[in-house]
Amino acid sequence: MSGDIGKVERGEWSSRVGFILAAAGSAIGLGNIWRFPYVTGQHGGAAFLVLYLLCVLVVGLPIMVAELTIGRFSRRNPVGAIEVIRPGSPWKIVGYMGVLTGIFILSYYSVMAGYTLGYIGKTVARSQITFADFTANAWISIPLFLAFSVLTVLVVQGGVRDGIERWAKILMPVLLCLLVVLIIRAVTLEGAGAGLSFYLKPDFSRVTIKTVLAALGQAFFSLSLGMGAMITYGSYLSKKDNIVTSGCYVALFDTLIAVMAGLIIFPALFAMHMDPAEGPGLVFVVFPKIFAAIPGGNVIGMGFFLLLSIAALTSTVSLLEVVTSYLVDERHWLRRHAVWIVAGLCFCLGVPSALSMGIVPALGDLPIPGGSILGFMDWLFGNMMLAVGAVLISIFTGWVWRVSRAAAEITIGYPGFGRISVILSFMLRFICPVLILVVLVFLILDAF
Ligand code: PHE
Repeated sequence: MSGDIGKVERGEWSSRVGFILAAAGSAIGLGNIWRFPYVTGQHGGAAFLVLYLLCVLVVGLPIMVAELTIGRFSRRNPVGAIEVIRPGSPWKIVGYMGVLTGIFILSYYSVMAGYTLGYIGKTVARSQITFADFTANAWISIPLFLAFSVLTVLVVQGGVRDGIERWAKILMPVLLCLLVVLIIRAVTLEGAGAGLSFYLKPDFSRVTIKTVLAALGQAFFSLSLGMGAMITYGSYLSKKDNIVTSGCYVALFDTLIAVMAGLIIFPALFAMHMDPAEGPGLVFVVFPKIFAAIPGGNVIGMGFFLLLSIAALTSTVSLLEVVTSYLVDERHWLRRHAVWIVAGLCFCLGVPSALSMGIVPALGDLPIPGGSILGFMDWLFGNMMLAVGAVLISIFTGWVWRVSRAAAEITIGYPGFGRISVILSFMLRFICPVLILVVLVFLILDAF
């Protein structure tokens, strides 16, 4: 019975491949190519990579499966999903938190995505403007931010499935090929070896609790977990689909793209004697230099930033979709009104982030975590709130809804699942909550 109304309005992915590509589209984005390399660079390289992979495997995967299962079982947005499973309980707050986190992530994410869009033009025009000057120019960065927000609205308004499924099928493989070309170029640059050992030879003596939180936060951010994006995408999954293998594919593609981005950035960075701890501007500084060193680099550069913009678009679409599906399902708004109003709100909320990248220098140098407004938003929403959301989702699935019921849903498309549900249960009830909570407590203690 659940989801009759939803089914008519919301439909399903046209195929399993369609779902995997759309969900991988949500997961793969600036998080892999912009955020992963700079966070890895700031946290010492290879040791961070190892921790990151462990976080994806041990914490990310179980929570991915939990979110997809909650979504497919309830066929609702995050708030409605929890209401279907535990009517009238305060757990609904987790859904609201997800919707709010989505709004805030969308606000600053679109600012960065706007820069990517601008870098397409910058590469074509062979402009020498530095990243700092680029972001400090209000006449460039604000219109780009606006343009990207409008693009997101147009896709979500026009129906995510047809648009995104069709685009993702063509563009994800192209992105993959381009990354391979860039890896070959980067690792054959003179002096690339130092970068490879920075990225691949771990030095665990430099690992602190902050490294662990950064790795955990990056895993949630990159896999789009902890705010209900995967609940929403799971709600469009057909009952025939195998949630576990689909989730594994999404995580695998996402991780592959991030690891590949690192294989480009670090060899190139060391070959060019640059600082890996450069921070959020890292890819915008390093990639143009690699393109300058390749024959035909302009065309490749343009293609790269175009694909990066599209990867970012499939992620912003999923962020907006979470909020939209909530307003459409629960508040009965018209989809076309919901998308424009939410995007307008996100634009207003994103303006301080955009200003903090050089337009108003005071906003870029504040005594807060992350340093600038944009950095702070990323710290608070892209790291902390996702971790808090993820811990609550794992406790909700493990202890409140109970893994046995989740397992019954998973088993519909995966008859052999019953036998391995013990592992999922153990992870969701004990390992995930304890690990995330310990890291969060240390982090909060550290902030004071
Ligand atoms: N996973 C996306 C990326 O890597 C960002 C994102 C986070 C999207 C949370 C949806 C939800 O770019």
